[in-house]
Amino acid sequence: MSESVLIDVKAHVMRVTWNRPEKKNALTGAMYAAFDQALERAAADPDVRVVLVIGAGDAFTAGNDLKDFATWGAAGGIEDIPVIRAIRRVVDFPKPLVAAVKGAAVGFGTTLLAHCDAVVAGQSATFSMPFVRLGLVPEFGSSYLMQAIAGRVVASHKLLLGEPFGRDEAATMGLVSLACADDALEAEAEALCRRLAALPPGTVRSVKALMASPDAKERLNRAIDDEVRLFVAALQSPEHREAVTAFMEKRQPDFSRFA
Ligand code: COA
Repeated sequence: MSESVLIDVKAHVMRVTWNRPEKKNALTGAMYAAFDQALERAAADPDVRVVLVIGAGDAFTAGNDLKDFATWGAAGGIEDIPVIRAIRRVVDFPKPLVAAVKGAAVGFGTTLLAHCDAVVAGQSATFSMPFVRLGLVPEFGSSYLMQAIAGRVVASHKLLLGEPFGRDEAATMGLVSLACADDALEAEAEALCRRLAALPPGTVRSVKALMASPDAKERLNRAIDDEVRLFVAALQSPEHREAVTAFMEKRQPDFSRFA
């Protein structure tokens, strides 16, 4: 298991820590693969009843590592790309998934939350989905799920502009289920996970399965399929190249020359 993702199982709770604090836990292919393997193990292990995802340091995650996008072409097919495997795994994950967020939750760090069964957030948490300003399209079913959670206009506003918004706004939108102080985040999230783990596990799994009705899941998977196709194509676009180059050069991107 990669050291940039730490796994620990205690009292029926698997804690998955994104552990790359010097890069704000930006997610590399290896980290997605480790996350995917952790969820695979959690789904199969009867000792694990709940999974808690948390970031080391002062951020949840800065989303996909912007340099790592270049490695996506190295995977066999689209479905072999580690982030795509992780996305499919989360969608089918049968047990409660809880996120504990402080600091930046960017891209995947925000879209993952729409798939969680509870989201705990400290006051420093900020959320953003800056796909468009990166020359990319939304992922992880967010083009569909964000509308279902927040309504079409709010979802469109957040997805198009990609500007960060705070914890209280995220709670109003329906992305955060429990607000707390940053310094109480771990304790609150762990206590919540312990309460979930104390419930009858078969009944909990049944409720999660009921909420993912076949209709809703089919609609979600269709959105993911469409997004993946457009996202992978957009990775080759000059607009995306300009956005990533600007990030590396620590300057604002200039999209004025594009039609
Ligand atoms: N990919 C690669 N490296 C990243 C990164 C990412 N997504 N996010 C942050 N980093 C790196 C920075 O380049 C910096 O590295 P350096 O110290 O070698 O220069 C380090 O992590 C710290 O980031 P910094 O920007 O100095 O921290 P901050 O607190 O000022 O801002 C963020 C934090 C997350 C708001 C900001 O880093 C950011 O916007 N990152 C890009 C997020 C993004 O676009 N993700 C893709 C989503 S699809």
